[in-house]
Amino acid sequence: MTLGGNVKLTGRKALVGEIRPPGDKSISHRSIILSMLASGRSEIFGISRGQDVLAGIEIARQLGADVTDHGSRISIEAHGLNEPSSVLNVGNSGTLMRLLTGVLAPRDGLFVLNGDESVNSRPMGRVLGPLKEMGATITGRQSNTLAPVSIVGSRLHGGDFSNLPPSAQVKSAILFAGLRADSPTTVTEAVPTRPHTEEMLLEAGAGITIVPGPNGVKVTVTPTAVIQSKTWRVQGDTSQAAFWVVGGLLAYGSELLVKDVLVHPTRSGFIEVLNRMGAKVELHPLGPRSSDISMRFSQLTATSIGGEEVASMIDEIPVLAIAAARAEGTTVIRNAAELRLKETDRISTTCEMLRNFGVVVEEFDDGMAITGSDRPFLPATIQSHGDHRIAMSAAIGSLLVDGETEIIGSDCVSTSYPSFFTKLGLLTV
Ligand code: S3P
Repeated sequence: MTLGGNVKLTGRKALVGEIRPPGDKSISHRSIILSMLASGRSEIFGISRGQDVLAGIEIARQLGADVTDHGSRISIEAHGLNEPSSVLNVGNSGTLMRLLTGVLAPRDGLFVLNGDESVNSRPMGRVLGPLKEMGATITGRQSNTLAPVSIVGSRLHGGDFSNLPPSAQVKSAILFAGLRADSPTTVTEAVPTRPHTEEMLLEAGAGITIVPGPNGVKVTVTPTAVIQSKTWRVQGDTSQAAFWVVGGLLAYGSELLVKDVLVHPTRSGFIEVLNRMGAKVELHPLGPRSSDISMRFSQLTATSIGGEEVASMIDEIPVLAIAAARAEGTTVIRNAAELRLKETDRISTTCEMLRNFGVVVEEFDDGMAITGSDRPFLPATIQSHGDHRIAMSAAIGSLLVDGETEIIGSDCVSTSYPSFFTKLGLLTV
């Protein structure tokens, strides 16, 4: 977790111009992992340069891959996957911690995965449980519930698992482990989560089937000897685009185009919710998975968010909460208890942020109720608590303040979006 750094932002500003968010973090992580599993040389265009992804690149090097940075692209040439001589550090990235546990469980060697204070307090039992059922030898702190974890590569068996609570990270860990098991492995998910791992594995020639069924989608991986090297192109991060979309909608006078954003039904729930609230958000498709997004200042009305749709906007809820604070009526968010297990307890840190802006909010175990108003937000000091998405949500909130907002611990944006505050400065008028 990056602590430190404070910024002061002056409010009542609009966002004007064009912005391409950094490469999607979820896809960036997977493109590195698939490249380090592949035989031959892979190229990645548009990768995120956030600290989370840089941690993945460093780990690929520790595991024996040659990584060359050419500026607009990086190339990764793997030579098998070697036992590293030291601990692998995922930094603040829960995604890396979970995915790599699955990747390494069937590999020869001893691997120790460590994270920062935040990652090491997030649940790992949900990953270690199924992997141990497959025969993995993994030990985690506090009776196998927390990282650091140590893995002694073992022979794994296939299995059948339900993805509950719905988690793309857990699903991905099981699928990566299943690549080297001695029989097929299936993950069934009643609630769809981002399918980037299975879709990218399929593209790289792995044995993957994705079959809809009465209990949800069944994703099956068959043991695969060779992962093909590829050229990966990473589109703009959907979750980072969400900050600009909400800013462009709420800040009066904004004229913003968010460019080349990854649009996927399992990720774009926030756009559906905003449209339901009366937002004027338009997609301008560039290809099957990428769009420019334009938006116009909109008067929003409250909505209810809950059930299955929560998984499709899990990372966007802090900034959706800023939108809800400007909507007429009370927006109720339920079934979002997973938010308590993110980089921070995001139910608590989002409610704290809103209260500091003078917004009326009630906290529930699994969500919150936000009473909207068109009054300006109050000048505030907001603690990021080291959580990049809270810092960026607060920055979008600052556009609505009559006065100054100070964000304490603003440096944490570098985990996913190092240039965020520079870009904000360039777009605000
Ligand atoms: C991610 C999955 C989500 C999301 C995280 C990235 C991924 O977590 O919150 O930021 O890349 O697989 P869960 O799968 O645990 O919900």
